[in-house]
Amino acid sequence: MTKTYQIALLPGDGIGPEVLQAGVDCLKALKGDFTFEFTTFDWSSTNYKQRGYYMPADGIEQLRRHDAIYFGAVGHQEVPDHISLWGLILPIRKELQQWVNVRPVQILPGTQSPLRGVDKIDWVIIRENSEGEYAGQGGRSHVGTAYEVGTELAIFTRVAIERVMRFAFDTARARDKRLCMVTKSNAQRYGMVLWDEVANAVAKEYPDVKMEKMLVDAMTVRMVNNPDSLSTIVATNLHADILSDLAAALGGSIGIAPSSNLNPERNFPSMFEPIHGSAFDLVGKGVANPIGAIWSAVEMLNFLGETTAGDVLMRAMVKVSADGVRTRDLGGQAGTKDVVDAIVKELGQLQ
Ligand code: NAI
Ligand code: MG
Repeated sequence: MTKTYQIALLPGDGIGPEVLQAGVDCLKALKGDFTFEFTTFDWSSTNYKQRGYYMPADGIEQLRRHDAIYFGAVGHQEVPDHISLWGLILPIRKELQQWVNVRPVQILPGTQSPLRGVDKIDWVIIRENSEGEYAGQGGRSHVGTAYEVGTELAIFTRVAIERVMRFAFDTARARDKRLCMVTKSNAQRYGMVLWDEVANAVAKEYPDVKMEKMLVDAMTVRMVNNPDSLSTIVATNLHADILSDLAAALGGSIGIAPSSNLNPERNFPSMFEPIHGSAFDLVGKGVANPIGAIWSAVEMLNFLGETTAGDVLMRAMVKVSADGVRTRDLGGQAGTKDVVDAIVKELGQLQ
């Protein structure tokens, strides 16, 4: 029986709509015992400026009815970034309990890392996605005075650390059984020490996985100097946010990197998005790299259980990259549409 997937599309701002359309074009070109019904939500900064809100009051309820959410980017020059992030993407991640963010990074065939002599990176970064430094607690007092105070509370709970560690160990087990746990427990004595303790406790359940511990500052050095010594990486919300941008750049471009915001229990829809933002400098030029968005569509297919289709789309994407159809950020000349057309053509041959 043909399965119909309800996909919520949130193109958002900047190049978000351009790269999301690229992904949708690829999804529509897939053949299989499934179809997609796409519903587009116009929750953007432009509309926020007119309406005063990003999501309507029942926005989360509307999203809940879908099998998955496919997201572009949010952020606008005329809206402070903390308003746009907390208006749209962070409430979705939190209210739909998407507590883990999975970010694979590879150097695709035909592309080059900025690292001299490095031709292989194959990492999966597991980011805690519900709390930590982005827990949303804090405040401002004595605003506008010389004594002004701003606090930003990082929150670490045993429940959230334990579940993300188990997810990371499971991921490492399914790969090459190497897990690097990133921390900063030398300087941060409470939350990060709890993080380490829970990681060590969970590690006992996975004797076949080799876990090592890295301080986040030293981790940046290792990612640059010895990338092949790393495989699966687990880090806090803030640390993994930063490390994954570095990882994407080392893999060739921020424009290629996908991410999955997962609710592993499947009580709520998960959300798939490129890790880049709205890239104001590229908007409307037709040059944005669509690979991050298309690869996110691959991750979405795999999470929905359509792994054959996910595999075919990944192979088409890799082939087109190997053939040298590359956008400018990767040193090529192709536009967004050239990459999409080449992938759709390749899909026609693979299916
Ligand atoms: P950005 O990721 O939008 O851009 C950083 C640099 O990477 C720019 O030079 C841009 O041209 C380049 N770049 C990004 N995506 C690319 C692509 N697909 N192809 C080729 N080049 C690409 O990050 P930035 O400039 O810090 O943020 C811009 C806006 O996006 C801000 O409002 C920020 O808050 C928002 N943002 C939103 C995110 C999200 O929706 N998940 C994530 C990161 C930033
Ligand atoms: Mg980021």
